[in-house]
Amino acid sequence: MTGYCAYGAEFMDKFVIEGGYELKGSIQVSGSKNSALPILAATLLTNEPCVIENVPNLKDTRSMIKLLKGLGADIQWTGTTIMVHSGEDIGTEAPYEIVREMRASFCVLGPILARKKTARVSFPGGCIIGARPVDLHLKGMSLLGADIKIEDGYVVANTKGLRGSRIYLAGAYGSSVLATANVMMAASLAKGTTLIENAASEPEVADLARFLIKMGAKIKGTGNSILEITGVQHLKGIRHRIIPDRIEAGTFAIAGAMIGEDVKIKNCINEHMGAVINFLKEADIPLQAKEDYLWVRKPKSRKSVSITTLPYPGFPTDLQAQAMALMSITPGISVICEKIFPNRFTHVAELGRMGANIGIEGQSAIVQGVKYLSGAPLTVSDLRAGAALVLAGLVAKGKTEVLRAYHLDRGYEQMEQKLSKLGACIKREKE
Ligand code: UD1
Repeated sequence: MTGYCAYGAEFMDKFVIEGGYELKGSIQVSGSKNSALPILAATLLTNEPCVIENVPNLKDTRSMIKLLKGLGADIQWTGTTIMVHSGEDIGTEAPYEIVREMRASFCVLGPILARKKTARVSFPGGCIIGARPVDLHLKGMSLLGADIKIEDGYVVANTKGLRGSRIYLAGAYGSSVLATANVMMAASLAKGTTLIENAASEPEVADLARFLIKMGAKIKGTGNSILEITGVQHLKGIRHRIIPDRIEAGTFAIAGAMIGEDVKIKNCINEHMGAVINFLKEADIPLQAKEDYLWVRKPKSRKSVSITTLPYPGFPTDLQAQAMALMSITPGISVICEKIFPNRFTHVAELGRMGANIGIEGQSAIVQGVKYLSGAPLTVSDLRAGAALVLAGLVAKGKTEVLRAYHLDRGYEQMEQKLSKLGACIKREKE
């Protein structure tokens, strides 16, 4: 191997897929990555132990645990349960080595600042899906009374004491999930009341709000776009169970729509999946959403559907690439408009190498369905783009190699094992 590798040996893993095997059976959805990450950060808000259940074992959750350990937290991880005890004496710095691996680690800023009145957190860089600024996080902290400076690539925040404020928290692309999480956590220990207007209302933000409320925070408006947070002096240690991962569930539902004979996705909260359920129904996929499972069966034919990604409850950007893989083999034309991360189209060229007919016009991809895809060696550059390429490989004629599988390990727990259990021919090998 040549060049720099931030991920050690896992950099060398690839998935090798023999396409054409129909999926049949059931899988269990893991806990939500996007819920677990800010909730793990929120454990820094208390000096008492917290127990978090249903935590997925992912590269990203392991990175967050590494960061918490580096800050001095005591961690016990058994199966899907993690105990975090941040104690009295936590550190104040989140280093570049960890923040560059995982941008979500930036959301330790609010908790550290609220507890220690000072924080030094590496400025995250851009990433493959776009510039990904943190201006809204900084605006929030600043309005709560923090003095913010950028020094040597780090955000350095200091305060004499955070105080409640009225904060309009949206930018050119709407609300921000992690900025809402960051500000909500800091405001929970601020003096007085904070009003977050245009807060993100994603289920993962609501899960964090429930976690904070159990700790003793006073939050009104959970799951809404206006949040009122009245700060308290002390938050306590609690036990909490992470919600199921709606993006993992949606990915497997789309896999079922592409090459499923009969696939049951268990442990879902269907209420969180309205947009993807509607998309699949409009595409004529036989689907039942019942109790805590989604049941997808083989369609007689498929219909093209156009989608636009939007903040929740709109169609999630994290399922855009997978939806495009499905549309690439669906007759007709589908327009897929990306309104959250306008450059999130790295999968388009790779799908093209498999024979997909997709053009990009500004923020939209125009997909003309083809009869079949052909297996090819493919390179993953981002987590959800990688998921789309795996799905395309499952349905393609012949062999597909998906290189740089570590991107998938960031957000899918044992993806290849779950797919194998459904009958897919997929193996993990060294590159
Ligand atoms: C979270 C999710 C990610 C998902 C995204 C959008 C986690 C760990 N990650 O990322 O999987 O794709 O929500 O649903 O939960 N923005 C600004 N300024 C900021 C912050 C964001 O302009 O300070 C912009 C972003 O560039 C983007 C939009 O706001 O265009 C939404 O991004 P945001 O919701 O912040 O994404 P994340 O919270 O980073």
